[in-house]
Amino acid sequence: MKLSILRETDDGETRVAIVPKSVQKLIKLGFEVLIELGAGANASFTDEDYIDSGASIAKTLKEAITDSDVIIKINPPSTVDLKHLKKGQIWLSQLFHRLNEDLISELNEKGVSALSLDAMPRISRAQSMDVLSSQSNLSGYKAVICGADNAGKIFPMLMTAAGTISPSKVLIFGVGVAGLQAIATAKRLGAIVEATDVRLECKEQTESLGAKFLTVEDDGVKVEGGYAQEVTEEYFAKQKEVVNKSLSQADIVITTALVQGAKAPILITKEQIEMMKNGSIIVDMAVAKGGNTEFSKPDETVFHQGVKIVGVSNFPAQLPTNASELLSRNIDTFLTHLVEEGKFKWDMEDEITRETLIVNNI
Ligand code: NAI
Repeated sequence: MKLSILRETDDGETRVAIVPKSVQKLIKLGFEVLIELGAGANASFTDEDYIDSGASIAKTLKEAITDSDVIIKINPPSTVDLKHLKKGQIWLSQLFHRLNEDLISELNEKGVSALSLDAMPRISRAQSMDVLSSQSNLSGYKAVICGADNAGKIFPMLMTAAGTISPSKVLIFGVGVAGLQAIATAKRLGAIVEATDVRLECKEQTESLGAKFLTVEDDGVKVEGGYAQEVTEEYFAKQKEVVNKSLSQADIVITTALVQGAKAPILITKEQIEMMKNGSIIVDMAVAKGGNTEFSKPDETVFHQGVKIVGVSNFPAQLPTNASELLSRNIDTFLTHLVEEGKFKWDMEDEITRETLIVNNI
């Protein structure tokens, strides 16, 4: 079976789906590996690195797609990719199928089967294949660095001959994968960290990292498949009461709240931003899904009454080498799970296969 790795074409994307180290694993699985010219360049992997690992180079996108049985990319197929795809091929990438119904119909009409990386179930045996987790982890780190970079203050307490600098206060909304890494990073840099989440089990995890958990007493939040569902207006009102004091003292706020399949919830309203300190920063990680504040805009910095709201939609692309390494490991583990003796098993009893095979033309 031939497998191709495409060069990413989305604006600002710098990652590559497979790094040279994984090429060797894929060859062992029985694949002949083809990589589109320059696919790894922005992540610091050269064509020579891939050739040394046993891959061949496809000079054009057309060659990469038409010559292959399995085609791999990080982002959903572009219109040009779709043009070249044909019946019987297997496409593997993130598809965000709930948001991209037309794309899914088009793949189906073409007779292509498609596996979606972002549809990986949140179960422990799938953790090593979960690209959302691996990328969120790095993003949590980078969001703190971004906050620090935008602030006019340092994180740690500093005692100098010229006086003492008090430590920065960081407040984190959402203690999932990104939030936990954000807590750990902000703590390591010396900040005083507080965090809140609708899931009460996050209290222990937050405290184990040396941060304070702001508990909103409520029993109405459902968690399904590892994801919190939408919360009620009453919950938001209670959350405001609990967080407002911390919000008014925070130097940096990082928002990571996500509700699966829905627009991100507004966690910080205009009135709340107006009670924040002059010069404070909000880094909104949920900006690609609508944002956790009313002002957040993807890949823009917005000011409101002295508060800077930074929206970065693709933090992993700012760490392309590590992000590609982790993605590549997720994908080669996923393929190892799906393939036996050079062939796909297509075991529909298996939750991982069933949930990720979004377009089934097998
Ligand atoms: P996750 O699902 O692990 O964590 C989200 C957390 O938010 C959960 O713990 C959930 O309980 C909590 N939450 C949901 N509603 C809440 C509310 N009303 N109040 C407080 N907490 C609430 O998700 P993960 O992987 O940590 O990602 C977090 C966000 O960051 C997502 O929106 C994701 O799309 C985004 N993200 C953004 C990136 C970027 O480059 N901007 C990169 C990676 C992730």
